[in-house]
This record gives sequence, C-alpha cells and structure tokens, in this order.
Amino acid sequence: MSLSPQPRRLWRDVILFDGLQVQPTPMTVLVEGGQVAGLWPQGAFDERLAVGASESGRGGVMTPGLVDCHTHLVYAGNRAAEFEQRLEGVSYSEIAQAGGGILSTVRATRAASEEQLIVASLPRLDALLADGVTTLEIKSGYGLTVADELKMLRVARRLGELRPVRVLTTLLGAHALPPEYAGRADDYISLVCEEMIPAAAAEGLADAVDVFCEGIAFSPAQCERVFQAAQRHGLAIKAHAEQLSNLGGSALAARYGALSADHIEYLDEAGVQALAAAGTVAVLLPGAFHCLRETQLPPIDLLRQYGVPMALASDANPGTSPICMPTLMANLACSLFRLTPREALAGMTAHAARALGRPDLGRIEVGAPADLCLWDVQQPAELAYAVQPGRLRQRIFNGAISYR
Ligand code: NIG
Ligand code: FE
Repeated sequence: MSLSPQPRRLWRDVILFDGLQVQPTPMTVLVEGGQVAGLWPQGAFDERLAVGASESGRGGVMTPGLVDCHTHLVYAGNRAAEFEQRLEGVSYSEIAQAGGGILSTVRATRAASEEQLIVASLPRLDALLADGVTTLEIKSGYGLTVADELKMLRVARRLGELRPVRVLTTLLGAHALPPEYAGRADDYISLVCEEMIPAAAAEGLADAVDVFCEGIAFSPAQCERVFQAAQRHGLAIKAHAEQLSNLGGSALAARYGALSADHIEYLDEAGVQALAAAGTVAVLLPGAFHCLRETQLPPIDLLRQYGVPMALASDANPGTSPICMPTLMANLACSLFRLTPREALAGMTAHAARALGRPDLGRIEVGAPADLCLWDVQQPAELAYAVQPGRLRQRIFNGAISYR
C-alpha cells in the first residue's frame, strides 16, 4: 500500500533490535520520507536535527516491523471438527486421505466469493497487525482451479490495499490434488504449469510459486516441473518440504535457487548442506509442529553449523496452525526448538524478509523502509519469553504510525 510522504519523526532512548542484533546502548531514531533517516547511540545525537521533527516516542524496545513470511491467511470455513478428530487419535495424513484436511477447506473456499473471502480474512490480518506485522506473505492453495487460485490471489492483493501492510503473494496450486483429478496427478501438474502459473504471472498476481512436496501431496518429480514453470515465468520459488517425511524436496528446491524451504522437520544433513550452498532460507513453523503434536524436531544445530538463516512464520491456516500471533511463534520456537530469543526475533525480521526475497525489509538501518514496532517491554527477549497480547505501543508502516 503506498502512502503519502510522512513528516520527520523522532524516537528517543529506545532499546533497538536491528533485525540481527540488539544495540548495546539506547538509541535515537529519525524517520523521514518513509525511511529510516538516522540512528544514533545515546548522547551522539545532534539536537539541531530535532528541529521540525515530531517527538513520537521515548523508551521501550524498537524492532523492525515483523515479517510473517509464510501464511495461508485467505480461506473460508474452519476445521475445528478435524482438530477434535486429531485429539481422538486420527492423524493429519489419515484425515487428508479420507478427503478432509486441505480439501475440506478447498470446498469452502471454492464456494466463497472474493467479498466473502475478504470478510473472512480481515480479522485474521488485523490480529497479525495488532501483534506487529508490517509485511506478510499470503499463499493461494485452497482453490485448485485456475479461476479459484486467481480469486485467492486477488483477495490477497486486495487485503494489502485495505490495510497499511505489505502483502507478497505466492501461488500454491500444487498444494493438494483436487478430487476431479483423482488418479491423474501428472495431468493436474500440467494444469498448474501450463495454465495457472502463466495466468498468475500474466496478471501480476503472484510474486512466487510454492509446492507441497509430500507423500500426501506431490512427488519431487512433479514439484520439479512446477519449479521449471515458475522459472520460465520469472517467479521466485518456495517449497513446503520435509514436513511429514524426507523426500529430498528441500534439496530439490535449493537446486532451483528457492528463496526458502519451509517446515523441514525431517530434513537431513545433506538437505541442510544443499540449503547452505544455495543460500536458501530455512523457514521454521512451530505453530504447525505444535498443533500436529509433531515430535520430530527440525535440525536446528545443523542449520546453525552450516550457517543457514532460520526464519520463523505463523503458517496461519485452518488446518495445521490456526494461529495469528507471531510473538507466540517466537515463544514456541524457543520452547520447542530451543532457538535463542535473538534467533527467534531475527527469524521474524531480517531472515523472514530474506525468505521473501526482500532483504531491504526486516532491518533497522539508514535508508531502509521505516517499518518499525515500538513495544512496551524492557528488553527484546521479553517478546519471546512472555505470551502477552497488547504490548505493541506503536506499529509504524512506511514511516506512519498506525495499528491498522
Ligand atoms: O503449511 N503442509 C501443507 N500446507 C499447510 C497446511 C494446510 C492445511 O492443512 O490446510 C501447512 O501446514
Ligand atoms: Fe504452509
């Protein structure tokens, strides 16, 4: 969403997490024209620069605006009944194989108009904004026809116009096999490659293409065809991979220069090496891990050892992660995956931005877009330590203060 230029604004005495590190001393932050115009450690600020600037805040913790780099925010209906089934011992895969799971949301989403999808999705978007999100990715994947996938992407783009937030869109046509293609998965992949991707690219509706590489979804060979089609149309590549088993989907995605491989609980060392070699970001989704009561941990130590950047996202979706609270993801990533609070915060800012191919976002540095959060806490680690809505004092988007 583009906004008119904002006035000069000044924040003083903030503890600053810049997207990678916490600055050692309180900082003064100057924002002008929608960008970070200056950063000074306490005492180093030239007061003449304050003339004409609006004093916008003092104290607290400032972070980059949060980047939620993996969401399925646009959908109709809900899957509370499947939640109950899973609690009784039926697995996510069994529900999917019986025609529920993703396909149950596909039925509801196909039946919904664009307007109905907007109405259903806005409260979820507002929950993310209230917890500090200034950029998010929204995937399609519950339409599974050309028309319904484009409908979802149009709704995603529209959400970015209705609220002050940056929305990047991802075509996830290869999310599940629609019932009308039962037994003809290769034909469905042809539809994705020859019709969906070209149509989404022609209309400028997708920034990236994603696949679900899994036994209950698509094989590596089928995903590879999708990656080739994405490349032909100049779209970035992402993959849901190694969520329930190890099929080598992450390494395959990395070979195609993917921005990210997401979930990756079952990723092995060779897969980690492939991500490292390609500069592909590992996106951790602790909400899905938690909701599926998964026990296989993602290979965090190997990712650290090979220097693979780790991003964190909500994966907000009706099945595996009906959660619209990024700071809860930070808490879960620390408690369940043993990330440090600093790693968790970098995962929701600098590394998440990289997973979207937008390394200009998720950092507080001079010249960066002024997407910022001012939190009522004393130290950044508190954002991962406590689960407590309402601590966001200001959300600054493109230099303008607004919660919405
Ligand atoms: O990220 N893994 C596949 N896709 C989603 C879940 C979608 C759904 O269950 O509706 C995920 O977990
Ligand atoms: Fe997902």
